[in-house]
Amino acid sequence: MEPPVFHRYSPVLCQAVTITLETIVHDIERLAGDDACNSDALIRIAAEYMLACDTPHYDTEPLIPELGARLRQGDRDAKASRQRQGAFYTPPILVGFILDHTLTPWHAAHPDRTPIVLDPSCGTGRFLLAAGERLVEHRQASTGECALAAWQHVGPHLLGLDSDPIATAWLTARLTSLAGGDCDAARGIRTLDALSPEGIPACKADIVVGNPPFGSPLKSASDAESARAAARSFGRPVGRYTDLAAIFLGLARTAITKQGYLGMVQPLSMLAARDAAPIRAALREVCTLTTAWASGRHVFDASVYTCALVFKHNAPADTFHVERYRDLPIQPCPPITISATDDSWASLATAAIGFPDVPPHQTGGTLGDICQATADFRDQYYGLKPAIEECGDPIDEDVVPVVTTGVLDAARCHWGHRPIRLFGQEWSKPGIRIPALSESMRSWATTRLVPKIMLPTQTRTLEPVLDITGHWLPSVPIITITTTRPDDLARIGAVLACPLISLVAIHRFLGTARNPKAIKLSARDVLMLPTPADTDAWDAGADSFRLAQEAVTQEQCDEHLADCAAHMSTAYAVKKAIGPQ
Ligand SMILES: C[S@@+](CC[C@H](N)C(=O)[O-])C[C@H]1O[C@@H](n2cnc3c(N)ncnc32)[C@H](O)[C@@H]1O
Repeated sequence: MEPPVFHRYSPVLCQAVTITLETIVHDIERLAGDDACNSDALIRIAAEYMLACDTPHYDTEPLIPELGARLRQGDRDAKASRQRQGAFYTPPILVGFILDHTLTPWHAAHPDRTPIVLDPSCGTGRFLLAAGERLVEHRQASTGECALAAWQHVGPHLLGLDSDPIATAWLTARLTSLAGGDCDAARGIRTLDALSPEGIPACKADIVVGNPPFGSPLKSASDAESARAAARSFGRPVGRYTDLAAIFLGLARTAITKQGYLGMVQPLSMLAARDAAPIRAALREVCTLTTAWASGRHVFDASVYTCALVFKHNAPADTFHVERYRDLPIQPCPPITISATDDSWASLATAAIGFPDVPPHQTGGTLGDICQATADFRDQYYGLKPAIEECGDPIDEDVVPVVTTGVLDAARCHWGHRPIRLFGQEWSKPGIRIPALSESMRSWATTRLVPKIMLPTQTRTLEPVLDITGHWLPSVPIITITTTRPDDLARIGAVLACPLISLVAIHRFLGTARNPKAIKLSARDVLMLPTPADTDAWDAGADSFRLAQEAVTQEQCDEHLADCAAHMSTAYAVKKAIGPQ
């Protein structure tokens, strides 16, 4: 990618001089003199440098996140520093979309007032400047004022917080210049940690918008004490993997005035992550969801999938009727109604990622009524390492074949036919010599070498495999499902192989896997999946699933799985065929 550049016009030569990030860094280091190795001094000087430009050129703006990162960390760690700061500015089209669904309806309801607009992680103020332009236009149309006077009026209504002093200096200079040098226009722009008590909790605004930094401060022992303190304010504790952006969103609910709007970009995982459930619950108590946008593509430089959510401060409602949109350029998707009791908001993004809605169906209970499910972790994975070897033919009596998700497809185990990667090595027929395991791993293996369903996670559809003899040893992250009634295993397989249940899982967990089209679920999630009401059709589905597992060829297996899906559609009383996923 070309390095970003901006042009400075030399007043003497009237010639365009191309200035790269390197040139600015060089300028700032020169200004810093003996302090050039002191990153705090460099940041302070960079902020003064931005503030001194009374007409900052828009082309300098995209350089700012990288500039800050470079000055803080030097060349080597600039990327990591930028990621830590979460400094990825929002595409103007998405800024416009969020304002269309927050500022526009607010203004329609209050045509004679200028709202207070807050962006608690404003960066260079993409949201605030775009909101300001709209407000200035409105003001000029209603009062006939000139643009400078309108900016002098509108500027103080724009509140911007950011921890990056270079970005806030740039924005301060920009607002001051738009208001003809009136510093008061930028009095709402402050450099501080938005999660501290002086930040979001001390603000009130009619419109709160923004694109907060993404990251998981709570899981690491970083310096994010304010994030941890903010996270404690949601009524019940949020999990340690909660994204920082979700904490900003949750805390922002306290800053909106009655009938005000809140619209923020979020990581897709926020919709369904269990760790963020207390934040979704806290938002539901004071807001209604009105609009959602999502994309299955990376729309920022960072490799993260994103969505945007808009809320209106309102009395709590039983259901939310939400308009849905996708991608850039933005296109509409069919709206959806979700219940206020829905713990997951994944359905807000399913259409954007390409999934149909869940058709009406009838359920009888949940898998938890008939089985147990267990997931394994690092210890079980690494515990196998000392005992792995290539299996001979025949396989020694004290050796068992070990399987990974890569060799499991629905009702099919390809062990011995597909290579398996384990511990950085490729194996043709990997086995575990049981006596070579530690004592605790031996007793763990005993609990896994039983009749079971093996269920890989992070797959596009659920792909259960029946192990009726208890022959395979599953490796992480395969979920092991067992039951006291071995006859139920095929019934469990039929439930999990049913396309409706994959769709239900997508609508509960979308966004939590690495790939937005994949399903990541925990053992507990498996037990919450619904079983059908019609038990006769379910039994017929189970017979087909068993036949699929016993089929010799892939074609026969596929035919039996198709029969299984048909029986299970009847079992769940699904009227409409489910489209391809
Ligand atoms: C994704 S950028 C968004 C910037 C801008 N709102 C936009 O949409 O273009 C996130 C911003 O959050 C700022 N930030 C990170 N941690 C912060 C904190 N604790 N308080 C305030 N701002 C913070 C970063 O400096 C960065 O400017």
